[in-house]
Parts: sequence; C-alpha cells; structure tokens
Amino acid sequence: MLKGKHIIVGITGGIAAYKTATLVRLLIKQGAEVQVVMTPNAREFITPVTLSALTGKPVVSEFFTANTGEWHSHVDLGLWADAMVIAPATASTIGKMANGVADNMLVTTYLSAKAPVFVAPAMDLDMMAHPSTARNLDLLRSYGNHIIEPAEGELASHLVGRGRMEEPENIVRVLDGFFSRKQRLAGKKVLITAGPTYERIDPVRFIGNFSTGKMGYALADAAARAGADVTVISGPVNVKASEHSVKVIPVESACQMYDACVKAFPESDIVIMCAAVADYAPVDVHDTKIKRENTEGMTIELKRNPDIAAALGSVKRPDQLLVGFALETDHEAENAVRKLKAKNLDMIVLNSLAVPGAGFATDTNQVTIFKADGSELSLPLMSKAETAANIIDNLS
Ligand code: CTP
Repeated sequence: MLKGKHIIVGITGGIAAYKTATLVRLLIKQGAEVQVVMTPNAREFITPVTLSALTGKPVVSEFFTANTGEWHSHVDLGLWADAMVIAPATASTIGKMANGVADNMLVTTYLSAKAPVFVAPAMDLDMMAHPSTARNLDLLRSYGNHIIEPAEGELASHLVGRGRMEEPENIVRVLDGFFSRKQRLAGKKVLITAGPTYERIDPVRFIGNFSTGKMGYALADAAARAGADVTVISGPVNVKASEHSVKVIPVESACQMYDACVKAFPESDIVIMCAAVADYAPVDVHDTKIKRENTEGMTIELKRNPDIAAALGSVKRPDQLLVGFALETDHEAENAVRKLKAKNLDMIVLNSLAVPGAGFATDTNQVTIFKADGSELSLPLMSKAETAANIIDNLS
C-alpha cells in the first residue's frame, strides 16, 4: 500500500533517531518516496548524509540553505506529502506541535501538512508519564493526529519503562494499515447513530441514559479513516469526532433521531446503530416545570418510542448493510442474536456490561460480533478506538 506514496519522515533529537535509517530504508523498500526533515538537534544523533544517501534527496533541516540562500518551502512539502511521520518525537517537539511553536523547519512543515500525521514518541519513562506530555499528546489526538504508542523496554537511561520508540517495522506496519484501511470504504456513505436520547418530561427534566457517545464517535473516526463519507446522527454528547470530515446531525429525542435516520437511510450504504435510544418517552410533556407540591405518589405515563433499527431493517435494500449494537446484562449472546434477527440486521455488536472496562463511559470496550450468516467473532478488551477500527475492518 505504500508504493508511490510521498512520506515525510520528521526526525527530532532523541537517541532513537539512529533507528530512522532503518525506518527510511523500509519505507523505500516498500516503494515509498521519502523526504527527511530534521530538527537541528536531530543532526547530533544521526547524520544527514546517511539519510540523504538512503532517500536520494537532500535532507531539509533549515529554513534556508546557508551558502545559496535557497528557501525551503514548508508549504510545498506539506502539500507534497501523503503522510508525515515524526519518529522519534521528543517531548519538546510534541509540546511545540501541540502549541504551534513553529521555530524550526519540522514544526512549520507539520503545521502546513494537509496529510495525516503519525507521531512516534520516544523519551524517558518519567517524561512520558508527565501530565504535560499526556496533555500535549491528547491535544495532538484532538487534531486528528495518530499516536504510535511507545513500547515498554530498556531506555537510553538504562531505566526500564514506557517510552521506547516503536520499532521501525511496526511504524511501517501502522502506515501500511492506514493506507489499506483508507481504501476499504472509499466512496461509501456511512451513517452512524451515537450517544443517548433525551425524552423530555418538562423544560428542565428528561429520561435518559448513561451513554456518552464515545463508541459511536470512535466508529465515525474509524470509518472516516477508512475513506468513507461519514454522518453521525448524534444525541446530546460532549465528545467530538477527531476526523474533520465527519458530519454531525444533532438530535435530542428518539423521535428526532428516527426522523433523521429515515431521511438519511436511502442515501446510505452502511448504517451503524450505536445510539442508546430511550425505549420510552413521557406521554405528556409539561410546558412548565413540574412543582414538588401536590405530586406525592406521582406517576409518569410512558409511551413506546419507535424502534429505529427495526424500522430501517424493514426497508433495507440488499445493497445496504445494517449494523446494530446490543447492550446486555444477561443471556447476552442469545439476546444479541435474537435482536439481529428481529431487526433484520446484517451484523450486531454485543457489549456486555458484565465485563469490567466495557460499556458506557469507559475508554475501553470488549465486544463480540455476530453476523447474519451465523459467524461470531469475539474481540479482546481494547481501547474504543481500536474496537471501532476492528468493527470497521469486519463490516460485511
Ligand atoms: N435501537 C433503535 N431504536 C430503539 C431501540 C434500540 O434503533 N428504540 C437500536 C440500538 O441503537 C441498537 C439496537 O437497536 O443498535 C439494540 O438496542 P438495545 O437497546 O440493546 O435493544 P432494544 O431493542 O431496545 O431491547 P431491550 O432494551 O429490551 O434490550
């Protein structure tokens, strides 16, 4: 997948910089065209001559070539690239990238890059564990950058811990996986429901649930990374998509979500129903706040909301793929398969609340995928982002 791809390898001043010779060599072996951009400090760790010999291109490190005055355009470089990978990324460069401190060619190129950016941190374990590093990495994630998490192992300080730059072979694998995924859903329209729905009781109260939308938005990001045109029909949430191409249609109640889904369905190739839709709504919604007085023994009469997944399932065309979620506390597999059939889904993703670290408001999830053909795939406990990428990889 890397054949013909233009890749900027950004090298910063850390011991792991010596490994980038291997990284560059592997990328070139896969058919990529590589341009190296180094920070001034990186030159202390690996010589530009080695890298320019490997890439066949002069290494860019300064804004100008001193003797000729030739200007190196970070804008042109940023436009040329299909991907930029910064390896090793020191705490200092990560901080500069997070905060737009454009005092060298590498950070200016990063700020101009239109292509996806991959960041492979490398630093001592204490620096890696510092809240400042964690905050800066979170900022980079929020810009849609991909963090290639550092491994545990012996560090330059001879201490053992988390902070070793991921091995060049694995960095190449991540890039290769990214470009293969990118093509998987190219040209497909994906509709995803996410978050809870709120059913109003009066102007200040509602019936809702603990869904945060994290899983739905992780799926939206994963589908966008796979090249899809993604729309999220979202209940009230505080999360955002990292991928800027993701469109969001905000709704509040199950009925609003139903209307938005029915409208968008005919245009959609793949629909993933990840929202925790409230099954019931109050029959009467009070115009004014219900007062405490005179409400002893109060009951709220409820009516059933429409089942959005079942409604879409009943009009689904053979060329459309409909995926549901099932959140179960008991008889999990049995209930999930029953819902798959009852709602005419092609696939259902079972979340078990019995598994610690899975379900609402966590950053991890453990799911089992059941398909209409009777197949079953259980994924291990992993981050919601990884779970989402796996679900997208398994769509069929
Ligand atoms: N769903 C929906 N509309 C509803 C209820 C659920 O579209 N009114 C969708 C969910 O988004 C999910 C699937 O149906 O993809 C299963 O949701 P779940 O809440 O597990 O199932 P229910 O059918 O509501 O059954 P129950 O709550 O009784 O388990």
